[in-house]
Amino acid sequence: MTKSSNEKNQKNYPVKGQSMWGGRFSAEPGALMQAINVSIGFDQRLAAQDIRGSLAHSDMLAARGIITEDDRDAIHKGLKEIAQEIENGEFNFRDELEDIHLNIEGRLREMIGDAAGRLHTGRSRNDQVATDFRLWVRDYLDHFERQLTHLMQALLTQAEQNTDVIMPGFTHLQTAQPVTFGHHMLAYLEMFARDRARMTDARTRMNESPLGAAALAGTPYPIDRDMTASALEFDRPMANSLDAVSARDFALEALSACAICATHLSRLSEEIVIWTSAQFSFISLTDAFTTGSSIMPQKRNPDAAELVRAKVGRIMGALTSLMIVMKGLPLAYSKDMQEDKEPVFDAFEALDLGLAAMAGMVADMTPNKARLAEAAGHGFSTATDLADWLVRILGMPFRDAHHVTGTIVALAERQGKMLDALSLADMQSVEPRITQDVYSVLTPIASASSRTSYGGTAPSEVKRQVERWKTVLRSCK
Ligand code: ARG
Repeated sequence: MTKSSNEKNQKNYPVKGQSMWGGRFSAEPGALMQAINVSIGFDQRLAAQDIRGSLAHSDMLAARGIITEDDRDAIHKGLKEIAQEIENGEFNFRDELEDIHLNIEGRLREMIGDAAGRLHTGRSRNDQVATDFRLWVRDYLDHFERQLTHLMQALLTQAEQNTDVIMPGFTHLQTAQPVTFGHHMLAYLEMFARDRARMTDARTRMNESPLGAAALAGTPYPIDRDMTASALEFDRPMANSLDAVSARDFALEALSACAICATHLSRLSEEIVIWTSAQFSFISLTDAFTTGSSIMPQKRNPDAAELVRAKVGRIMGALTSLMIVMKGLPLAYSKDMQEDKEPVFDAFEALDLGLAAMAGMVADMTPNKARLAEAAGHGFSTATDLADWLVRILGMPFRDAHHVTGTIVALAERQGKMLDALSLADMQSVEPRITQDVYSVLTPIASASSRTSYGGTAPSEVKRQVERWKTVLRSCK
């Protein structure tokens, strides 16, 4: 989604005829009032939603005999022309007209005269802006769902291609146990699936129409709120007019879902940054998602991952900011609520970019299989397998097996060897009952392959999960 091309029309201060401002707010109260009140610079993003709402509202007014069909037709024709002007970048957004609602209505009046004045019957800017903003947030939630599906597809492809690629699994960023690359990819797939479900959930809850709540109390006109709700593809009208104009929890909920999703993007970004470092060299990215250094010719910096990681800051900031705007407001509408939009616009645009970049990076990633396998064997990653062997074959209590294994690891460390390179005699010097059979569990691949419990890292289990996800994702749009 891109910003309206008309943003270039956004005016900076000082506005026409007020050049005495000289960039400082020492002007007369009228000018100051306009400066603090004006929102057209950002709420012009709601133009399409505003027009859509007005088309539905005027249709309903005519159907209920509140305005004539001629007026309705004139309003529709005018609104469609305005939509075209905005689309073509020809619309003159005016600060004097404060916001998107008054800008569109003002232009409609220029075009069709008196009939324009009848459009606002039985409605207020309070229910109008609540409707526009809901439509805007809803469109983005749909967009995020599609983007998340796309990202999940990319992760699934990586998982499918690398079900049996062994790598070190970490806890505390210290080598823990060998895992498979496919398993690691599926872990993120699960997270993004939950993010997608959160978006779907937020959408379902927010999909009610505020339109017709009017200023706060409803209206004496015989309006049909079901008709406008269904024209705007809402499930139903909101049941309480005070709530309808006051509620912004739909935006908070969407932002929360975005913030959680952004933390997942950030964690994956962090791994990409670590994995592409010379020290790890677990994966490589092409030039498509890296940049060179202006001074160090050897560098290939993972800038895209770093920027995705950094964008979480503004998304979380947006959530905090809107929470704070809302928390002290009495019912019903207060102008504070005009400050609801910018954080949401900014956060959604950041997430949009982050999701797109991440889907691109995941597809672009090439795991360095040899390096991953080598790293998987370091750090005594199969020590748990040795302990499990002592439990399983020698019938030792796990605590004793843990102690024996610790002694063997210390011995290997002194000799500078990996566990599977330690001689049988050395092992037997610690525990005489150990046999040659122990070596069958000491390689990273054996270790990973043995973890066949549901959700475990064994290639066989990862393949099963890959198949499950293939079926799930096939049924997504
Ligand atoms: N621009 C305003 C907003 O975003 C529209 C609603 C104005 N309502 C009012 N009662 N002044 O909140």
